[in-house]
Amino acid sequence: MSGFVRELELRSGPSLRLLQRSGGVGCVVWDAALVLAKFLETGSFPLSRRAVLELGSGTGAVGIMAATLGADVTLTDLQELQELLAVNIDNNRHLVTGSVRAEVLKWGQDVSGFRPPPDYILMADCIYYEESLEPLLKTLRELTGPDTCVLCCYEQRTEGRNPEIERRYLELLQVDFELERVPLDQHDEQFRSEDIHILSIRRKTKVGDGAPCASASACGQH
Ligand SMILES: C[S@@+](CC[C@H](N)C(=O)[O-])C[C@H]1O[C@@H](n2cnc3c(N)ncnc32)[C@H](O)[C@@H]1O
Repeated sequence: MSGFVRELELRSGPSLRLLQRSGGVGCVVWDAALVLAKFLETGSFPLSRRAVLELGSGTGAVGIMAATLGADVTLTDLQELQELLAVNIDNNRHLVTGSVRAEVLKWGQDVSGFRPPPDYILMADCIYYEESLEPLLKTLRELTGPDTCVLCCYEQRTEGRNPEIERRYLELLQVDFELERVPLDQHDEQFRSEDIHILSIRRKTKVGDGAPCASASACGQH
């Protein structure tokens, strides 16, 4: 498969090599993916031997990074992204210390094949069109257990309907989930930006529950 390789240097030295190609929005590495991938490397949320599921993986940058940090990762996206994900898994397998595979998961559809709930769900730049919000939230509700930590990274965009889509997403999200922003000074020093946010999200279980997983102790060490 031809395209252009985006290199992403790891703290440990070598670089992830992520093939990008022409096609849909999932075929390139978005800035939110870079920010979330490099945030994972800060170690704020322990990933070694944790079960991780990524939604809307695109090129797989975030999930593959998690797999280099020892997580057992399932990348998910639409059928048309599976070939690119397979190439990127193969290109980076030598850096993986956990495990990584890719599966089709279309938001809103049956998720029974993805049980039990993972320790983490990762999402980068998945909030960008209105029709996806309800199905995406349904999928999040069905995939999360009480201990699942969702790390959602998104770019705040000011043009067109983007502010309204973001507002609506946050409103719908807070019906069933508690969320907290990861402060900017906790993001990777180089890969951070005022307009790219990371939310730590946890499912509300009952009244008084649902403390967001903003710290490793609240979320990662179960
Ligand atoms: C803007 S791209 C972000 C890709 C990658 N996470 C990144 O940040 O580089 C959004 C991703 O969501 C996926 N996506 C969009 N709608 C989807 C749906 N209904 N079900 C599953 N994935 C979807 C797209 O295929 C695409 O890979």
